[in-house]
Amino acid sequence: MSSKLFAGFEDVVEENVCLAPLTWYRMGGPARYLVRPQNTEQLQQIARRCLDSGTRMLVLGRGANLLVADEGVNAAVFKLDAPFWREHSHDGARLTAMAGADMQAVGRYCVRHGLAGLECMAGIPGTIGGCIRGNAGGRFGDIGNTVSRVTVMSADGEIFVRDKDDLVFSYRKSNIAATFILSAEFELEEDDPDELVRKFKEIWMFKKNSQPLNTKNAGCIFKNPEGASAGALIDQAGLKGTRIGEAEVSTKHANFIIAHPGCRAADVMALIEAIKEKVQKVHGVDLEQEVIVWR
Ligand code: EPU
Repeated sequence: MSSKLFAGFEDVVEENVCLAPLTWYRMGGPARYLVRPQNTEQLQQIARRCLDSGTRMLVLGRGANLLVADEGVNAAVFKLDAPFWREHSHDGARLTAMAGADMQAVGRYCVRHGLAGLECMAGIPGTIGGCIRGNAGGRFGDIGNTVSRVTVMSADGEIFVRDKDDLVFSYRKSNIAATFILSAEFELEEDDPDELVRKFKEIWMFKKNSQPLNTKNAGCIFKNPEGASAGALIDQAGLKGTRIGEAEVSTKHANFIIAHPGCRAADVMALIEAIKEKVQKVHGVDLEQEVIVWR
């Protein structure tokens, strides 16, 4: 490594790493640093070095709701994917999951063990930390409904526990501002595993039938405006199939932008702007982006 910034952590810090393979869109440029801490102590120490050197810190989950600029990001990108960060277990109806645990793995674990409450997350890609940060969910419910405690770490390494009465989850939003989510607890309900497995599959099938899941996309691009569906508004504005470069508004669900081979982040960004403009013109509605852009 050229700099001494992360001396002693060479085995978990890489320099100039292309982020494209780590995102669902398979697009975007490099991160100045990619950091994969093995445990909390390492995370604290490396975050401290970033803070002291003024290095921007970003956390990458499964990269499902993310668009990375073609130029990449001048930041330390933390990926909590070491085994420590993926653990999850339960005690009665209380589930504990580390931030890097895969949402689908946790969802399947719950239904198999007869724990109800997270079936609504079937088919929603992400890590537990990423899903909690943006209160991921859909028409069947949001993750925030069952979260009872979240452990977070601020950029300076201080760890806090936030309990239910201090957590606010609203549509695609949480009030968690700390740089890192470390783990979470969920209050679930005991139910029949066969019934829960059936529900999980049914919700997953609904997604599969109504969304272009077999394409390169980042899920819904825009949040639903109050009382309306962004997909329906974009559809009614006649934008399905609209293309800029290799980015195309899905013909299956208009709130998805599909990336065809050779697509650049700039194509998607330009299409996002074109959609916003047209929807404002046709419906008088300002669409708010759901997809996070790193630049
Ligand atoms: N619709 C259209 N045209 C389209 C797309 C949708 O007319 O091109 C209509 C549908 O017919 C339906 C309504 O719009 O009457 C709502 O569509 P849908 O049921 O697909 O739900 P959505 O509001 O578009 C939300 C979440 C999805 C989640 C689904 C299912 C948002 C922005 N989207 O979609 O979340 O998967 O419910 O639970 O909240 C995501 O956040 O990335 C995402 C995909």
